[in-house]
Formats: sequence, structure tokens, C-alpha cells
Amino acid sequence: MKGLVLSGGKGTRLRPITYTSAKQLVPVGNKPVLFRVIEAIRDAGIDEIGIVIGDTGTEIRSAVGNGKRWGVRITYIQQDAPLGLAHAVKISRDFLGDERFVMFLGDNCIQGGISTLIEQFGRSDHNAQIVLKRVADPRQFGVAILDEEGRIERLVEKPREPQSDLALVGIYLFDRHIFEAVHAIQPSARGELEITDAIQWLVSNKYQVFPYIHEGWWIDTGKKDDLLEANRLVLEELEPQVRGYVDRDSQLIGKVIVEPGAEIINSTIRGPAIIGEQTRILNSYVGPFTSIYHHCLIEESEIEHSIVLENSTVRGLPHRLEDSLIGRNVEVSRSPLKPKAYRLMLGDNSSVGVL
Ligand code: DAU
Repeated sequence: MKGLVLSGGKGTRLRPITYTSAKQLVPVGNKPVLFRVIEAIRDAGIDEIGIVIGDTGTEIRSAVGNGKRWGVRITYIQQDAPLGLAHAVKISRDFLGDERFVMFLGDNCIQGGISTLIEQFGRSDHNAQIVLKRVADPRQFGVAILDEEGRIERLVEKPREPQSDLALVGIYLFDRHIFEAVHAIQPSARGELEITDAIQWLVSNKYQVFPYIHEGWWIDTGKKDDLLEANRLVLEELEPQVRGYVDRDSQLIGKVIVEPGAEIINSTIRGPAIIGEQTRILNSYVGPFTSIYHHCLIEESEIEHSIVLENSTVRGLPHRLEDSLIGRNVEVSRSPLKPKAYRLMLGDNSSVGVL
């Protein structure tokens, strides 16, 4: 089997972070979501992976490379415009050939990996298998309606009035018949070739499509709050480990990971939390569910339930930062200038909550 990871698209819901970079490279628990996807596919025994890339392709290529570090071979497939998930499958035909494959959306984060799923599909003669998960608000996803015997009756992409709470998780297993489907369908109202429509075509044309209900957690990390939630869930599963320097005046409470080259000076870290390589935490408090990536500085500040990306500084804040996503090379600090005022330089579509 082969793996196909979708890492193109626009990422509009994570702006301004995604003005400058790919949403799939935002880290949760200090590891980009896309790396977690590659590892899940590798751990299921697949070593040939195609990655569909778009405008952010250069950045993705330089972050991922040729796959050697995971023991896999990566092939990049350029998609000229984000014309839909089924379009991404269409343009990947040469890479996929006639082999069965797993398609995994590069912004999805799932608990427990996909080994069982791959093994089951590998042994079966199903034409396709879709992964489903019960969710509170199905309107933001593709949705599956099952019949009384648990077979797939109908699939609808982002229904206004959902008739089921079973969302399509961004993991799909296909055989070569999916290529007939992606050629047969027409673009949806949002102008995309929808994979949901392609799977519906398979169902309508009597191909064998089976559901697999996922029991663990699953997060589509498209928005800030979903990223923070994925970060919380991933941190809860990490094993504590201290590979950096912690001075005698500091305290680590609960599950804390301190990566190599990090320094914790006169500070308290209450886990679950992770402090990245070469990051310094000075006279500060880092609270639960916080990931601080590499080469950051947190000084004279308190931060909790947040993600801070690389090379950023948080210094001298009079109040605790919470529920925040801080981008790369960002500086958040208390200003000594008079008159006392907020002085901001924010990208388009930023959002700031002040006291
Ligand atoms: O996350 C699960 C949901 O993913 C499913 O429930 C939906 O049925 C499915 O359509 C999809 O919905 P989204 O609206 O969340 O898809 P999004 O546009 O965020 O794209 C998902 C991934 O695929 C993302 O990593 C970007 C990539 N992509 C997207 C498009 C439209 C491409 O590589 N090429 C594309 O043309």
C-alpha cells in the first residue's frame, strides 16, 4: 500500500499564521501536525508516501525533506490550485498507480494511529473504507448516514441540517476504483471536487465502501481553538523527560518535557507542558497545556493553555497569557514608554483580547 498526504489548500481559518506558512506545519506538542501524520502512516508499515503540495510547497519540502529521517520515501505532487480533495487524488494517479492507498489529510490529528485500520483494509477486498467519528457539530464536516445494518447509505459534505452526527475523519482507504469516481463527479457549490461526492459515487455504483468508527480522539486542526485542543490531548499522552537545564530555584510539577538546550531559570512549569530546544524560561510561570517551541524566551511572565511558535519572546507581562496561539518571531512585551498605551503591530485577521 501507498500513502497520500494532502498538504496543499489555503488555511484561511488560521490566518494570520497561514499568511506566511503552511497550516500543516503548526506544531502540537512541539511537533508539526504533518510530521505526526507521516509517523502514523510509517508506523502502519507504509514506506512510500506522496505529499500533495500547493502554494506553501517550498516550505513543506524544506521541513519534510526526502523522508529519510522517518525511514520512508517521499514524493511531492504539485497541485496548481486547491481545487478539492478529489482533485488532489486525480493528480496523484501517476504516483499511486493501481495500488491500494491510504489518504490522510495533513491537518488531521488522531489518537492511536492507523495500524489496525490499514491491516484490516489490506486483508479485505473492500473498494474503500472511510473513518467516522461522532461529533457535537457535524455541520463543519463531511457527514455519513448509515442504514440500520450499519452500511453507508449517503454522504453529505458540510450539511446545513445534518441527519447524522457521524463526521468523516480525514483518513480514507481506496483501491483504484476511486479514479473512476473522481473523473465522474462535478465541482460542488464551493467550486471544489469533493472527496465526499467521489465516495458517494462509489456507493451509488455498488462498490464496496465500509465505515470504520474511530473510538479515540480526533481533531481537525483548522482553527485556533482546535489546535489548542489537539495540543492539550497530545501533551496529556507524552512522557515527562528533562534533557535541558533546570536550575535549583525552579520547579517542574507534573508531566513536563524540557528539550535539549532549553533552560529553566527561577521558574515554575506545571505540566503537562513542553519547552522546546534552546528556549529560555526566566522568572516565569508556564502552566498546563502549554507548548513553547524552539528558540523562544519567556521572561517575567505567566502563560497557560497556549502554543508559542519558534523564535518568539514573551516578556514582562502584567497579566497571564491564556488560550493563545503566538506565531513565529513574535515579540509580546511590556512597554516602558509613556504615555501608557497598547502599542500593536498585528497582521491582517489577527485577534487580540485585552483586559
Ligand atoms: O478534516 C475532515 C474534513 O476534511 C472532512 O470531514 C470533510 O469531508 C473534508 O472535505 C475535509 O474538509 P475541510 O474543509 O476541513 O478540508 P480542508 O479544505 O481544510 O482541506 C483538508 C486538507 O487537504 C488540508 O491539509 C489542505 C489539503 N488540501 C485541500 C484542498 C481543498 C489540498 O491538499 N488540496 C486541496 O485542493
